[in-house]
Formats: sequence, structure tokens, C-alpha cells
Amino acid sequence: MAASTSRPNVAIVGVTGAVGQEFLRVLEQRNFPIGHVKMLASARSAGKRIDFKGKSHTVEELTEKSFKDVDLALFSAGGSISKQYGPISSEAGATVVDNSSAFRMTPGIPLVVPEVNPEAVKGIKLGKGGIIANPNCSTIIMLVPVTPLHRAATVVRMVVSTYQAASGAGAAAMAELEQQTREVLDGRPATCKIFKQQYAFNLFSHNSAVQDNGYNEEELKMVRETHKIWGDERPKITAMCVRVPVMRAHAESINLTLAKKLTVEEAREILDKAPGVSIIDDRKNNRFPTPLDASGRDDIYVGRIREDISRNGSGQEGYGLDLFVSGDQLRKGAALNAVQIAELLL
Ligand SMILES: NC(=O)c1ccc[n+]([C@@H]2O[C@H](COP(=O)([O-])OP(=O)(O)OC[C@H]3O[C@@H](n4cnc5c(N)ncnc54)[C@H](OP(=O)(O)O)[C@@H]3O)[C@@H](O)[C@H]2O)c1
Repeated sequence: MAASTSRPNVAIVGVTGAVGQEFLRVLEQRNFPIGHVKMLASARSAGKRIDFKGKSHTVEELTEKSFKDVDLALFSAGGSISKQYGPISSEAGATVVDNSSAFRMTPGIPLVVPEVNPEAVKGIKLGKGGIIANPNCSTIIMLVPVTPLHRAATVVRMVVSTYQAASGAGAAAMAELEQQTREVLDGRPATCKIFKQQYAFNLFSHNSAVQDNGYNEEELKMVRETHKIWGDERPKITAMCVRVPVMRAHAESINLTLAKKLTVEEAREILDKAPGVSIIDDRKNNRFPTPLDASGRDDIYVGRIREDISRNGSGQEGYGLDLFVSGDQLRKGAALNAVQIAELLL
């Protein structure tokens, strides 16, 4: 018998990974009501012990039978695992919130940022199956601050450049950045296993596959997912995604073209009231958001809020805005957003 859905039984698929570990922290910190928790990972991790809410739990190998009596399954074990086990979980009655890209663009599957489109989960109930997709981390970090501006002045074009941390590529990538940093400082060659190029003291174009049009997959996710979440394909969006040697938390430079004039003061007022947004915008002291500000935090930090001067003299003054944002992609970009989705279902 599944637990009453006011205290759902929860399975965490990929619990030993970077996002999986963050799931545990977020569930505990938000005091998410849980009946029983099931920790799932690959056969490699089966038998490991993980503490949660003061109790030690044994990691089990993920199998087709893992979802019996589970009401909520939080998936973060990669796209192929989600594709294989997501439908099995849903069939067994466990509602899936999936962090991979497996179902994000599947018609009929909601792609949700709770601050933006909570209505998309209407009708979905915990313990009754169904799949909900968590957007790409860079998309979430962009849309939490940009959506309230879009609602006020309509984004017609958006140009975004990302500065993406190692944690976005998982626990092994974080370990690789740490190891390479030590190696380079010791004058030894950097060991490259996760990334093909030296990461420490370097930066490179995002490691996802490059398509025929020259865009990599991460960039296209930001474009397509935004259109799906906003339910509007009209905004023109282009992205340039780059990995930087930061351990945790992404940053993004965002340029907006708006359909209506919006002053810096108006934008700041909107962002000040926006849920999930904090402003760090101290021009006098040249103090703006950094990944260290955002690390371990729930909010997306926004600064460099300024009018785009490239429009001066064009008659389009006031229709362009620049922002610099930073957000912890393990939290708001992954685990926190997924838990907030689950909270909508309670
Ligand atoms: N990192 C981010 O910021 C971020 C953001 C949004 C979405 N995501 C998505 O979340 C997923 C996980 O990312 P991550 O960064 O947490 O990666 P990670 O640190 O590499 O962790 C991967 C997890 O998947 C498990 N796993 C691997 N193969 C498995 C199998 N055959 N059966 C069961 N479990 C298996 C691993 O278990 P073992 O320890 O047993 O190998 C581990 O728990 C990916 O789909 C990623 O795209 C990540």
C-alpha cells in the first residue's frame, strides 16, 4: 500500500550523484513530508549507507521492481535511465519528476519552473503515475529572473551567454576540476577524463554535442525549453554556452530586446518583487552576483541591471536591458526546482 500522499513514499534515483545528494539536502531543509524513502543507484553503489534525517539508509540497485509502493520518484541518473525506468515508475503508480533531458520536449509532458508555469502540473496527483520534466539548469536560472520582465514588457529577443560550473556535469567533473587544479599548480600535466580539454585555468565551449547549425545541444535546450515553458515560440533566442573552471553555480549574461519600454528602475522594482530572485547590484562598489554568492543558495542572484546603450540614436532607447545572473544549478537548476514541483502536487 502506498502511503497517504500527504506523506508520500519517495524514491531518489541516482542518489549517490551530485544532484541526488542535493535532493537529500533540499528535502530535509524544506521538511518535505516523507513516509518512506528509497535510495536507488547503480549496482556499483548497492549496499552503501547514506544518512538522511538522522537515519542511515542502504542504497539499493535500481531495478524494474524498485517502484512498488512509491508515490514520488525523483530521477537524476541520466537520460537513458530516465527513458528506461521513467515509464516503468509511472506505470507502477509513482509520479516521476525527471531531471534529465529525456522527456523535456515530449508533447504532453509538462516542463515546469514553479515560479513560471505551475499551472502545467494541474491534474497530476502523487501516487497516480505521470511524468513531469525539470528543465535544463541554464534555462531555469535564466527564466526565474527573465519571466517577470517578460510579463511586464514582453521579450521579443534574448541573447544569452553562459559561464557554467563543473557541478553541472556531475560529481566526477567536480573531482576532475579539483584534481587538475592540484596537478597544474604542482607543474604536472592535467588528467582529462570527463572533459577532452584541460579545465583548470582554462575555459571552453560547452561539452555537449555540436549540431549541423553550429549550436551545441545545451544552447538549443535553452532556446527550445524557453519556448515550451512560456508556451510561446515568438521570442527570438540565441545562446552561447561555455564551461568555466568554477566548482559550483552557473552565471549568465543576458541581453533583452523588449516590446515595451522598461527603465532600469522599473526592472529593478519588478526583480525585487520576483519570487526566487535576489538583487546584488551595487555599482558604487562594483559588486555584482558571483557563483560564490549563489552556491548553496536557493535564489537566482541578479545584477548589472542596465539599459542597453547600443540602441541609443536608433529610436529604440529603453527597449533593451542587460542583466548578469548567477544561480546554483544543483539547487534551483536541479534538485530544488524538482522538489518545488513535487510540493505543487502535495
Ligand atoms: N549536475 C547538474 O547540475 C544537473 C542539473 C540538471 C540536471 N542534471 C541531470 O541529472 C542527472 C544526474 O546528474 P548528476 O550531475 O547528479 O550526475 P552524477 O553526479 O554523475 O550522478 C549520476 C547518478 O546516476 C546514477 N547512475 C548511473 N548509472 C546508473 C544505472 N545504470 N542505474 C542506476 N543509477 C545509475 C549514479 O549512481 P552510481 O553512483 O551508482 O554510479 C549516480 O547516482 C543527469 O541526467 C543530468 O543531466 C544535472
